[in-house]
Amino acid sequence: MRIVLLGAPGAGKGTQCKRIAAKYGVLHLSSGDILRQERAASTELGKKAQSYMDSGALVPDNLIVEMMVGAINKASKKGFVLDGFPRTVNQAVELDKLLARNGKKIDAVLNLEINEQVVVKRMSGRRSCPKCGAVYHIENLKPKTPGICDHDGTKLVQRPDDNPEVVLNRLKTYHQQTKPVVDYYKKNNTVYDINANEDADEVGTLAFEKLDALVSV
Ligand code: AP5
Repeated sequence: MRIVLLGAPGAGKGTQCKRIAAKYGVLHLSSGDILRQERAASTELGKKAQSYMDSGALVPDNLIVEMMVGAINKASKKGFVLDGFPRTVNQAVELDKLLARNGKKIDAVLNLEINEQVVVKRMSGRRSCPKCGAVYHIENLKPKTPGICDHDGTKLVQRPDDNPEVVLNRLKTYHQQTKPVVDYYKKNNTVYDINANEDADEVGTLAFEKLDALVSV
């Protein structure tokens, strides 16, 4: 199964992709997580991406496409769920070309729809584990011990691009460059709009309903 999750920053893409990967055995590929790993390892790509990420702008398409093609090519036959990619129409076109070369296409696009006031609240309360990437929220998805990762006991951190000024830029970037990707997919693929304002379990149930129907076809 090849799935794309679209949605504004903080819509819950990462949270739901982890659940989808666990349930269907597909590989979770998050462009943001891969970029953060590249930065942590101080690679050339990580250094080039840094200033774009810190300001809430998109990293140039050529860098992202090369990075994601490499990651997608490593996915097993079970497929993948893409989180944060594609984020421009050009990226979506390149992804389609890559899949078409192997006679494949995206099977489903889940579009997480969310109110912006909810986004701001989610981002300001997000905490993540710098070691394993687990994501929490100080009110909605609390770790067992405040500030500590349930999985490996690492101290949780706040992402630098979650400060209110950068969040506003990320939302602006989303509207200008990523919203058109939803329209692109609506022309060529099956897109399921999902109300992502609900709690994480409920959003997960809505997503699973759509994906279960695909698996049983
Ligand atoms: P990226 O890491 O992809 O950030 P994003 O798209 O802005 O998305 P987020 O990770 O902030 O949010 P999310 O939707 O995954 O929400 P989450 O599940 O964490 O990208 C970062 C940067 O990298 C970009 O700005 C750009 O510079 C660059 N980049 C990445 N991909 C790129 C690309 N393709 N092209 C160019 N540049 C690229 O949830 C958020 C919080 O809410 C958490 O605390 C969570 O616990 C909580 N939460 C989640 N769901 C719920 C719920 N239903 N109810 C209550 N709380 C919830």
